[in-house]
Amino acid sequence: MIRVGMLTSGGDCQALNATMRGIAKGLYNLYDDVEIFGFLDGYKGLIYAEYKKMEKSDFSGIIKRGGTILGTSRQPFKLMREPDKNGLDKVESMKHTYRKLRLDCLFVLGGNGSQKTANLLSQEGLNVIGLPKTIDNDLWGTDMTFGFNSAVEIATNAIDCIHTTAASHGRVFIIEIMGHKVGSLTLEAGMAGGADVILLPEIPYDINKVADAVRRRSKAGCGFTIIAVAEGAISKEDAALTKKEYKKKVAESPYPSVSYEIAARLEELTGSEVRVTVPGHMQRGGEPSAYDRVLSSRLGARAAQMCKDGEFGNLVVIKNGEIDKFPLAESAGKLKVVDPNSSIVQEARLLGITFGD
Ligand code: F6P
Repeated sequence: MIRVGMLTSGGDCQALNATMRGIAKGLYNLYDDVEIFGFLDGYKGLIYAEYKKMEKSDFSGIIKRGGTILGTSRQPFKLMREPDKNGLDKVESMKHTYRKLRLDCLFVLGGNGSQKTANLLSQEGLNVIGLPKTIDNDLWGTDMTFGFNSAVEIATNAIDCIHTTAASHGRVFIIEIMGHKVGSLTLEAGMAGGADVILLPEIPYDINKVADAVRRRSKAGCGFTIIAVAEGAISKEDAALTKKEYKKKVAESPYPSVSYEIAARLEELTGSEVRVTVPGHMQRGGEPSAYDRVLSSRLGARAAQMCKDGEFGNLVVIKNGEIDKFPLAESAGKLKVVDPNSSIVQEARLLGITFGD
C-alpha cells in the first residue's frame, strides 16, 4: 500500500499530464494498492488542503493532453517563509496537509522556483521527488526538461510562418521567444527556423552590430532578415547597469518589451521596415511533441521506482540519454544558462548567425 501526492507548479507546459500519467502507471505497476492525491493549482492546493483523490481512470487518455489536469499557480519561493494574508504559516501548513493525508511521498512537477520549494519541504522532513518541467530548459542537473522540445517546435513554426511573409515584403522581422533569464529556447528555435540574428540574455548585444548584419544581408541581395530575440535579451549598455538601474530603465521604457526597442533602433539605423511578432504563451500550449511524451513517460516511471526505493530528496533527470537522479539540494537555486562558448553557439556562428556581440 502506498499513498502519494502530486502537484504541478509554476508556469504550465506541454507534457505535465504525460508525466503524471507516467508516475501513476509506474506506481500501479509497482504496488498492489495505490492512493494518489492530486493537489489543485500547485502548492496552493498543498497549503490550503485543496485536493482531489485520483482514480486510475483520471490518468487515462492524457498522454497527449496539454496543460495540467490539476491546474497550476505561481507561489514564489521567496514568499514561502512569509505568512499569508491571514497569518497562516505556509510551510507548516504544507507539512500538516502531507501528514494529515499520511502521504509516503510527494511528487513535484515544476521548474526552478518550484524545485526550490520542493527542496525546502525535503529539508523539513517530507519525502519529496521532483520532476523537471519547463519550456526554458534551465534546470540545473538535467540535460533536458519536459516541455522544452514541444515549445521549440511551436517557436520554430512561428519563425517559419514569418519567414515567408518577411521574404515577400522584404522586411526585417523580430520574433520574440520566451525566456527571461535563459536563451536556450530562442537559440534552438532560432537555429531551426533559419534565423539570421539570435539575441540571448547570455550574450549582450551591440545594436550597431545587429544593424550591420541587416545591412550586410541587403547588400548581398537578401531583402529580408529574421531576428530571434529572447524575452530577456539585453544590450551591452544595459548589461553594464546595476540591477536597480536596469529595473528603473525597464519600468520607464516606452516599449512593451525589448524587441520593440530593438525594432525602433534598427529602423533608425538601417532605414528598413521592421516588424515584431510575439508568439507568447502559444509556446506553452497545445499537445506535447512525441519526444516530450517519451521523456515524460520515462521520467514519471522512474520517479515511481525511486519512490519504491526510498530515493527521496532527488530530482529525476536525464543525462546522456539515461534517466538518473540528482539531489534537489544541489539543483535548487542554480540556473542552467546558455554557455556563450558552448559547441552549439560556435556552430551557430559557423553557420553565419550573428549574436550581436
Ligand atoms: O514557465 C516559463 C515561462 O514560460 C518563461 O519562458 C516566461 O518568461 C514566463 O514563464 C512567463 O510567465 P507567465 O506565464 O507568468 O507570464
